[in-house]
Amino acid sequence: MQISNPVFRAVAIVAMNFLFYSKTIKSWFEKNVFNPYEIDGNKHADYALMQLKNIASHINIAGKSILEIGPGGNYYLACFLLQNGAKKVFVIDNENHSFFSNQEIAIYKKLYPESISNNRTINQDKIVVINYGRHETIPLSDESIDVIYSNAVFEHVYTPKMLLKECQRVLKVGGKMMHQIDYRDHIFSQESLFFLEIPDLFFDFFFKNTGMWVNRLRHSQWVALFDTLNNLETIKIDKQTSSLSLTKKQNQLTTEDIKTTSALFILKKYAD
Ligand SMILES: C[S@@+](CC[C@H](N)C(=O)[O-])C[C@H]1O[C@@H](n2cnc3c(N)ncnc32)[C@H](O)[C@@H]1O
Repeated sequence: MQISNPVFRAVAIVAMNFLFYSKTIKSWFEKNVFNPYEIDGNKHADYALMQLKNIASHINIAGKSILEIGPGGNYYLACFLLQNGAKKVFVIDNENHSFFSNQEIAIYKKLYPESISNNRTINQDKIVVINYGRHETIPLSDESIDVIYSNAVFEHVYTPKMLLKECQRVLKVGGKMMHQIDYRDHIFSQESLFFLEIPDLFFDFFFKNTGMWVNRLRHSQWVALFDTLNNLETIKIDKQTSSLSLTKKQNQLTTEDIKTTSALFILKKYAD
């Protein structure tokens, strides 16, 4: 369900926002009407496979405990990571978008038979599913994870600094984390930066209950944020850019902040 007209799209998102003040309605809507996190099963599996290849090209996953933040509506990536030698995968999301269709379960079983127990539930010895609300304190012990990964998640996080500190805490010394962050507008049009013009108060009031809300941090702010983390060295930043058009307010931004549409950050934890 894609609405291409930016105005109609924004109106639909605002309507959703008010409907979703009720978490029960939100969950019912995602289960019965439209789940933006669940694309067609096979297509999403292909997308997860692409992510696996990206992770494996930078980080050795064999025998590792991996934490995926914000998996969305499925655990395909977790299955691929296990299939490719990961020891155990923790998937943590602040909302549950996964409703276990028969099609999904069949794909999980095909990808990694041990991922499903009793034919219907996730095998928690292999994939540990954690839903932790909006407080962003990761319920895992200090230095217990080898690899932390997220894709298109951090731009949706309310308090990214807090969550990054949590990542730093649970990561083992020598461990790596890899975060792909999408800086584009998720509401009106990805071809403009109009969304940056809206004052915070309105932006939050009209959009915060939807998956399209973003914290609107720009590239330089993310770089600065990653720099504040103790014991973490940024070993790679891969930027994607485009030629976005400017509006008045955006003249205050640097060219890099205007043109960078997403970035991949890879960090390594070192000892004190
Ligand atoms: C755009 S989806 C990305 C899903 C998936 N990673 C992908 O690439 O298709 C963003 C996901 O991040 C989750 N999310 C938002 N804030 C979060 C937080 N603080 N902690 C964990 N997950 C969060 C959302 O619930 C959603 O599942």
